[in-house]
Amino acid sequence: MKFFVDTADLADIRDLAATGLLDGVTTNPSLVAKAGRNFIDLIAEICEVVPGPVSAEVASTDFETMLKEGRYLARIAPNVTVKVPLTPAGLKTCRVLADEGTMVNVTLCFSAAQAILAAKAGAAFVSPFVGRLDDIGQNGLGLIQEIVEIYNNYPAFTTEVLVASIRNPTHVVESARMGAHVATMPPSVIRQLANHPLTDKGLSQFVADWAKTGQDILSQPLPKRGE
Ligand code: E4P
Repeated sequence: MKFFVDTADLADIRDLAATGLLDGVTTNPSLVAKAGRNFIDLIAEICEVVPGPVSAEVASTDFETMLKEGRYLARIAPNVTVKVPLTPAGLKTCRVLADEGTMVNVTLCFSAAQAILAAKAGAAFVSPFVGRLDDIGQNGLGLIQEIVEIYNNYPAFTTEVLVASIRNPTHVVESARMGAHVATMPPSVIRQLANHPLTDKGLSQFVADWAKTGQDILSQPLPKRGE
């Protein structure tokens, strides 16, 4: 499973990229507004930090302007993935951009029917929003299961399921069990994945016991090998 971070905060992106665990980045207009930076400069910087797909979303909602914006954004860097909303105009934009060789992420997907359309439109990624479905009392993970199952029935569908609106590690683990290709999550959730109280407890014990040995690994000479 690929890990994308869902943020426009460059400090977080740099920090997580340094772990070697990051495969890409997703942004959206709300995250860009929060970052308070010039959009084009921001995306260009993110693309330099992370070589994988970086989603940059169009701002318009009509086909002609979305297409112009998508083509413009795609010129920022080769790893820009143009993000378009799952609307008839967005799907039409997706088809044209995909035919031109641009990666497209079709976002705001809330049903399996919509996900089928994204695949038929040639999207590189479809983004079903798990958390926002849960928020209204629907089954977000159930939608991931449906989409993965449907896509698996059609090898010609090359669209990757990019699980979005993730709120917690369970969303990530369950999506991985279902075979979703990508999880995009806030920095806090990526960091949470490493946490377990028994890891902390076990490590404290090992550190304490090691101190009792009075040894230092790096000051000990290594054995001579093959001589
Ligand atoms: C996906 O690309 C979206 O940016 C994101 O996952 C939305 O998440 P939210 O529901 O937490 O805003």
